[in-house]
Amino acid sequence: MPQKFKVVVTRQLIDEAQKLLEDVSDLDVVQWPSEDQPAERSWLLDNAQGASGLLVMLSDKVDQELLDAAGNDLKVIASFSVGTDHVDTAVLRKRNIRLGYTPTALTDAVADLTIMLTLMAQRRGGEAIGKVIKGEWPKMPWSPLLMTGPQIGGSTVGFLGFGRIGQATLKRFIPFGIKRARYLTSKPGQPAKEDHFGLLKEGKIPIEPAQNWEQLARESDVVIIGCALTPDTKHLVGKDFLAKMKKTAVLVNIARGPVVDTDALVAALDKEAIFGAGLDVIENEPNIPADHPILKQPRCVLVPHIGSATIETREQMATESVKNLLAGLKGEAMVNEVQL
Ligand code: DGY
Repeated sequence: MPQKFKVVVTRQLIDEAQKLLEDVSDLDVVQWPSEDQPAERSWLLDNAQGASGLLVMLSDKVDQELLDAAGNDLKVIASFSVGTDHVDTAVLRKRNIRLGYTPTALTDAVADLTIMLTLMAQRRGGEAIGKVIKGEWPKMPWSPLLMTGPQIGGSTVGFLGFGRIGQATLKRFIPFGIKRARYLTSKPGQPAKEDHFGLLKEGKIPIEPAQNWEQLARESDVVIIGCALTPDTKHLVGKDFLAKMKKTAVLVNIARGPVVDTDALVAALDKEAIFGAGLDVIENEPNIPADHPILKQPRCVLVPHIGSATIETREQMATESVKNLLAGLKGEAMVNEVQL
């Protein structure tokens, strides 16, 4: 790189990625000092000035204000995430700024967690552990109907969004003996654009597009939300969707919180209109106070957005983000780039 590029990185990174960044001699790196606390917005706006590249987390909003603060040298945003709903892609496109992201690194980790949340929701894992921790086991000796829940084998699993993560989840569900899968993408009723793992060709179980969300909600024993957050998907799972679900069905959200209307979910759980829920994400996260009504729902398991939190995956996401940043500065091919 002939010139020195200023880059701003909004977190301390895991070893290998940090080293990769520090080893590039032509970079002037400004880095938020914390590993676990998000960069303050005012810090980011102040430091972005004159930057050629920004490496950001999903908690950093990339919008007109930030791009204006950075100025005309900005060439690349590298997002440490698969989701890009925190980025105003229209503004990037207008200013010809490239966007890197990490869609392939986290597929397995998130699919694994999706299985965990599904089984926790069906088998009442949160509720069961809660009772033991509270010392309630002596009051509930083994009995034939104690803590029973629906079984994954024989289920119809419905996918709202059927990209890599959805398909990797389905691949894991098939050996559990599920009966069929339905999926809904932005093109209802049409076959999935990509068959990431050859499952659609394989034909082990029927895997079919749903005609609309109503059909998906009505037929599924498990609904997995894996779609991007867009104006069309915000609150897609609300009162009407939940009302169409089976009483024995569970809802699992590993995508973005606002796809589900939390108040509607709390109401559905209160009325036992659905069996349970497993959530990795929720609206307004991480600001969920201890008295939030969702936390009072025994049949809802909520974990703090840890879908991709395996050591291996986070290392890979960090390394790929740095590679994307450097490729963007040099005008080279990124590991993964959003086509704006
Ligand atoms: C992402 O990368 O968008 C995920 O939500 C992180 O787990």
